[in-house]
Amino acid sequence: MLKVDMHSHFLPETWPDLAQRFGTPDWPWMRHSGNGRAMLMRGDEEFRPVTEAVWNPAVRLEHMDRDNIDVQIISATPVLFGYARPPEQALAAAQIFNDAALEICAHNPARLKAMSQVPLQDIDAACTEASRAARNGHVGVQIGNHVGLKNLDDEGIVTFLQHCASEHIPVLVHPWDMMATERMPKYMLPWLVAMPAETQLSILSLILSGAFERLPRSLKLCFAHGGGSFPYLLGRVDNAWRHRDIVREDCPQLPSSYTDRFYVDSAVFNAGALKLLAEVMGGERVMLGSDYPFPLGEQQIGDLVANHPELDTHTRQRILGANAREFFAL
Ligand code: CO
Repeated sequence: MLKVDMHSHFLPETWPDLAQRFGTPDWPWMRHSGNGRAMLMRGDEEFRPVTEAVWNPAVRLEHMDRDNIDVQIISATPVLFGYARPPEQALAAAQIFNDAALEICAHNPARLKAMSQVPLQDIDAACTEASRAARNGHVGVQIGNHVGLKNLDDEGIVTFLQHCASEHIPVLVHPWDMMATERMPKYMLPWLVAMPAETQLSILSLILSGAFERLPRSLKLCFAHGGGSFPYLLGRVDNAWRHRDIVREDCPQLPSSYTDRFYVDSAVFNAGALKLLAEVMGGERVMLGSDYPFPLGEQQIGDLVANHPELDTHTRQRILGANAREFFAL
């Protein structure tokens, strides 16, 4: 049985000094301290400590062997997106990181695959870079769940999704740039509260705006972290759609009827939550995703799915690999 982890992150070991190159501050860079440890910096600010698993494919493959993972799909860490930058700078950065991702995958091309990043603030440039990356070997594109105040129902972003559908490029939506962080100064609350809300907001923006009515069924679209708060609260949305005309004014079908238009990963860290997720989305629409190699990821990749007491064998096999094999045409 093939096991595919479709949600993991990389950072290159080093990259060009983007602040110097573009003459603008606060670009991410790596401050290495030796012994396989580094600090991901944003300008002068310490953003996140990381270990060499994030840049060293040999270490990644060791961990994949340990957890019996056949294929891992790597994506950029969202702090690299640069959506608030001038588009030409974000495009240049995207090309640097996309090419670096393929260098990591070149270590073992059969087992390491990459998704690209694009300058989503410029739809033409985003479409061009997604296509360039796909030609170069990227198996999909990862996008942040919003661009400033624009949600996924933004006309330009819908155009980008239509482009990806027409070019058969799968899309992973990852939450980032979290809402209301000024009220969440401690305890990683932006990751625990705002990230799941961001993902729910993105899914509902597509459903309630009627965007799925304009997007082709061939679009391969996946949301990280089990769809965030969405699956648990879908009943609330259906109830609102039934009883308030302002909820359904742009959405012709019951919100829950759109769950056959997208996928989610399995990163929910709880057997009951995973069971609910498989019931809400269907076992065909959940894919193993670990968020490796970060502390908020699944520490033994695939453990929750493989040892689930209630999912049947067929569903577990679908989630562990068969769904991702189809989604990414591996
Ligand atoms: Co992630």
